[in-house]
Amino acid sequence: MSRPAAISLSGVTKRYGDTLAVDDVSLSVAHGEVFGFLGPNGAGKSTIVKMVLGLTYPTAGEIEVLGQPVGSLAARAEVGYLPETFRFHDWLTASELLHFHARLARVSADVRSQRVRELLELVGLKDRVNDRISTFSKGMMQRVGLAQALVGEPRLVILDEPTSALDPIGRRDVRDRIRELGERGVTVFLNSHLLSEVEQVCDRVAIIDHGSIVAEGNLDELLSAQEIEIRAGDGAEAALDQAEVRRINGRLRVRVANDAETAHLVSRMVDAGVPVYDVRQVGDSLEDLFVRVAERGDV
Ligand SMILES: Nc1ncnc2c1ncn2[C@@H]1O[C@H](COP(=O)(O)OP(=O)(O)O)[C@@H](O)[C@H]1O
Ligand SMILES: [Mg+2]
Repeated sequence: MSRPAAISLSGVTKRYGDTLAVDDVSLSVAHGEVFGFLGPNGAGKSTIVKMVLGLTYPTAGEIEVLGQPVGSLAARAEVGYLPETFRFHDWLTASELLHFHARLARVSADVRSQRVRELLELVGLKDRVNDRISTFSKGMMQRVGLAQALVGEPRLVILDEPTSALDPIGRRDVRDRIRELGERGVTVFLNSHLLSEVEQVCDRVAIIDHGSIVAEGNLDELLSAQEIEIRAGDGAEAALDQAEVRRINGRLRVRVANDAETAHLVSRMVDAGVPVYDVRQVGDSLEDLFVRVAERGDV
């Protein structure tokens, strides 16, 4: 039998009154995968995370987490969660707060102090360990939040917009932490509307818009569906024989599904005796992909 997925959703729908927040989503995240869940504000990302955690319930569909039904104690014990918005007990110091969460996560007493110290150092709060949370900036709170999510050494870490309050250095730090988790075999589910963040750390992504998944796959695959720009001699347009060839500054622009299609188009021009001077991919960032998906509803 194959190992159960770390997260599996099948046919999940969530309505809040008249709002269809999540519309028939099926999704599977493998163990050890760093999975990016992307979408504009209001797309349904946080709602999915809350259902995966058992904090709210689907109107329809099934969800399993680490091979267990959602909300079971066994599953919860192995999941770390950084909510998108949170309020900590801000009269506590960073260290006290983490000790509190370590106890909740049943970290044994003999390793607690060391774990807390290491984590606060890891998230860059070494010098603020004994300061009260009430004196922290939003970015520092988010760092504490990340340490809190990791305190129980979870097998699955769910991060909902983990860098929204961070400056560029903070963002880079969090990306590094996520990479380290991935390298240690921890499954990471990263919700974000920040494409660059996901682009840099995730193995696989899904894009959600208006409650539905509109694209899913390996980043390389998704990014290879894009436009190419061709500089070639006379007759190129005829040789390409594509429905949509645009001409921009004397160069031709064609949309292709993958690298194989690019190679195919080049060979058609060459076969037709058209000199090909330059072929390059344009718009190779996730940002372009995202805009395309959001605007046209396709990839
Ligand atoms: N508790 C709630 N009650 C009513 N509507 C909600 C609630 N939570 C989210 N929604 C609605 O569900 C949709 C998806 O929201 P959300 O999952 O928070 O999106 P995202 O995290 O992608 O920004 C939005 O239209 C939002 O207004
Ligand atoms: Mg959200």
